[in-house]
Amino acid sequence: MEAAKDRIVSQAPEREPDRQRFFMDRCRELLRIKEQELGRKLTFNDQTFGCQMNFKDSEKLNGILEEIGYVHTDTEQADFVYYNTCTVRENANIRVYGRLGTLKTYKKKNKDMIIAMCGCMMQEEEEAERVKKSFTFVDIVFGTHNIFKLAELLYECLSRKQRVFDIWDKTDLIIEDLPSDRKFSFKAGVNIMFGCNNFCSYCIVPYVRGRERSRKPEDIVAEVEKLAAEGVVEVMLLGQNVNSYGKTLERPVSFARLLTMVEQVEGIERIRFMTSHPKDLSDELIGVMARSEKICRHIHLPVQSGSSRLLKRMNRHYTKEQYLELVDKLRSAMPDLSITTDIIVGFPGETEEDFQETMDVVRKAGYDSAFTFIYSKRSGTPAARMEDQVPEDIVHDRFDRLLEVVGETARQKNAALEGTTGLVLAESIDEKDPSMITGRLSNNNVVHFTADRSVIGKIVPVILEEARGFYYIGRLSEDGI
Ligand code: 5AD
Ligand code: SF4
Repeated sequence: MEAAKDRIVSQAPEREPDRQRFFMDRCRELLRIKEQELGRKLTFNDQTFGCQMNFKDSEKLNGILEEIGYVHTDTEQADFVYYNTCTVRENANIRVYGRLGTLKTYKKKNKDMIIAMCGCMMQEEEEAERVKKSFTFVDIVFGTHNIFKLAELLYECLSRKQRVFDIWDKTDLIIEDLPSDRKFSFKAGVNIMFGCNNFCSYCIVPYVRGRERSRKPEDIVAEVEKLAAEGVVEVMLLGQNVNSYGKTLERPVSFARLLTMVEQVEGIERIRFMTSHPKDLSDELIGVMARSEKICRHIHLPVQSGSSRLLKRMNRHYTKEQYLELVDKLRSAMPDLSITTDIIVGFPGETEEDFQETMDVVRKAGYDSAFTFIYSKRSGTPAARMEDQVPEDIVHDRFDRLLEVVGETARQKNAALEGTTGLVLAESIDEKDPSMITGRLSNNNVVHFTADRSVIGKIVPVILEEARGFYYIGRLSEDGI
C-alpha cells in the first residue's frame, strides 16, 4: 500500500501548477471513495483572520478545495476545516487558540475530520511548534509561502493518515493559474505583489510574508481581463505596499503604469488598491488617479503616528510635515478624495507630546475614517526590544481620546455629502435590515439604501439622505445622477 502511494507521488509532474492539478485529481479520487462510504458529499469550512491578503489567500484555498470536490458549509462541523491565521497583533493569536478547543469536540464526533492551520501565525516557529506539541488534533500545518500546495499536503495527509507540517521560511515563487473561489461575483481582489521589504520596527509582516515580489504586469492584466469576462466590475489591487510595485521585476514597471494598463480592461468600471506607503507615493500616481474615470476616489494612507521622532523610531522614512504635504498634494489634485489611515497608539517611548502630534495630524488630514490600534509587542521585531514600553492605562486613555477625534472628523467629512447623489456599487442585502441594500461609494463609504435586490452587482445612483457617523442611509435615485 505504502509503495503504491509512493509510486503515485513519484508520477507527479515537477512543474507547477501541473503538479498541484495532479494532486487535486488524486485527492478527488480519494474523496469519491469516502463519499460512497458515507453516502454524502464531504464539506469544508474556512475561518479567516486578519487582512485582505489573508482573505484573498482563503479564496485560493477554497478554490482548490472545491476543485477537489468538497462543498462549502457555514458551520465548523465540517469534514475539512482550516484556520487561516493572522499574527499582526497579539490578540489575533489568542482568539485562534481559544477557538481551536471547540474544533476538538467536533472532531471527536467525526473521526475523519481534517483540521488545517495556515497563515502568518504558522510562519512563527514557536507557534507552529506549539500546534505540533499541544494541539495534536490539528492534521495539516502550512505557511504563507506554500498555500498553492494545499492539494499535495492534503493528499499526503489522506493517503498516509499522518500529520503533515510544511512551512517554508522564504520563497521567490509566484504560482499562476490555480483555481480561486470568489466571494462576490461582481468584485474581486487581485494580488499584484507579495511580501514587504519595509521593516517598520513594530511590524511582523516582513518576517512572516517574506521579501517583496511583484507579479508580472501581463499576468495581472490577464487575470483582470478574465475577471471582467466573468462579470466583475470592480477590482481591488492588493499588496502590502502597492507604491513600490514592480521595482524588483526584471523589467521594472511603476504602479502608476500598472494602473493605466488595468484601466484599459473593458468591463472594469472601478479600480481600488491597498495599501499605500506614504514614502513611495509618486506624483505620477497622483496624476494617473486624478485623470482616471475608473480609479476610485479613495486612498488608504497609513500614518501610524504624527510624531516625526516616533516615525523615525518606527522606520517609516517620512516626517509629520512630509506626510501632511502629501495629503495637501492629493487633496489639491482630487478635492473629492477620501483619505483613510492606520494609527498605532502606545508605540514604545510615546510621550503625551508625541500623542498630541498624532491628534494634530488627524485634525489636519481630515480622515474619512481611521483604523486605530493599540501597539502590540511582536517578538523578533526591533520595537519589541525597545525599553520604554508605555504603561497600559496611559495607552488606553490615549486610545479613547484618539477615537473621539477620529469619530468627530469622520462625522464632519461624511455630513458634507448629505443630500447629494452618489454612484454606489450595490454589494449585498443589508445584514440588519433585509429590506435594504448595502453598497459602497467610489470613496469607499458604506451606504445602506432602499432598493430592489436586482440592483446587487450594479453601480447605481443613490440619494444620500442621512449621514450617520461612518455610513449613509439613502434611497435609489430614479432620475440618475
Ligand atoms: N501593533 C499594533 N498595530 C500594528 N500594526 C502593525 N503592526 C502592529 C503592532 N505590532 C498595524 C499598523 C498597520 C496595520 C495593518 O496594523 O497600523 O498599518
Ligand atoms: Fe508592516 Fe510596514 Fe510592511 Fe506595512 S509597510 S506590512 S506596516 S512593515
